[in-house]
Amino acid sequence: MGHDGLFISFEGIDGAGKSTHIDALAAAFRAHDRAVALTREPGGTPLAEKLRAIFLHDPMDGLTEALLVFAARRDHLRQVIEPALARGEVVLCDRFTDATFAYQGGGRGFDLQVLSYLENQVQTVMEQGAPLLREPGLTIWFDLPPDIAAQRLSGARVPDKFEAQPAEFFRRVAAGYAQRMQQSPQRFARIDANQSIEQVRQEVMAAVRSRGWLT
Ligand code: TYD
Repeated sequence: MGHDGLFISFEGIDGAGKSTHIDALAAAFRAHDRAVALTREPGGTPLAEKLRAIFLHDPMDGLTEALLVFAARRDHLRQVIEPALARGEVVLCDRFTDATFAYQGGGRGFDLQVLSYLENQVQTVMEQGAPLLREPGLTIWFDLPPDIAAQRLSGARVPDKFEAQPAEFFRRVAAGYAQRMQQSPQRFARIDANQSIEQVRQEVMAAVRSRGWLT
């Protein structure tokens, strides 16, 4: 039997602990015989991974940053996400456009209207002959107070450009996520990431099951 593709994204400030739960969810879908495409942004294609390295490490202004991340997203959508959805796969994406609104918009204070314009240009796809804004069907937001995220990150590795930002930056990023959730409440599942891994895992599974997936 064929499946409909599912598109799930994972968001949160650096240190919120997404990775463990993305892997666990991939395993759960595979245990239900679903093909899973595990991917990330910026990145997911050879071109987008090159853009990621520049994006994460080179200093640049806000518009350059936004253009690079949306360029990477365009390639990723066309080469990986759309084909996987068309094959009926489950696409699990570590960050997507909400991160751009949260980090570039909230964190950096870059113009949200320009981001919305780019979002529409980059993510409008044709489906059954009609234009459609491609978005995740579910976005799992791991919400964690910035000071706790900073403690988790400290000493973990050499920080990239964003991880090196002060707690105040991450407060603005978190506010950016909250604003995106307010605009699309049905798409979001906010999870309190300040709990044990097992509690967070159960909430992730509950968010997925409540949509009728993985039942
Ligand atoms: P992250 O997803 O945390 O990967 P890793 O776990 O390997 O560090 O790193 C990506 C960084 O890029 C993160 O700090 C958020 C930032 N980012 C943006 O600023 N805008 C975006 O649109 C995306 C997708 C990521």
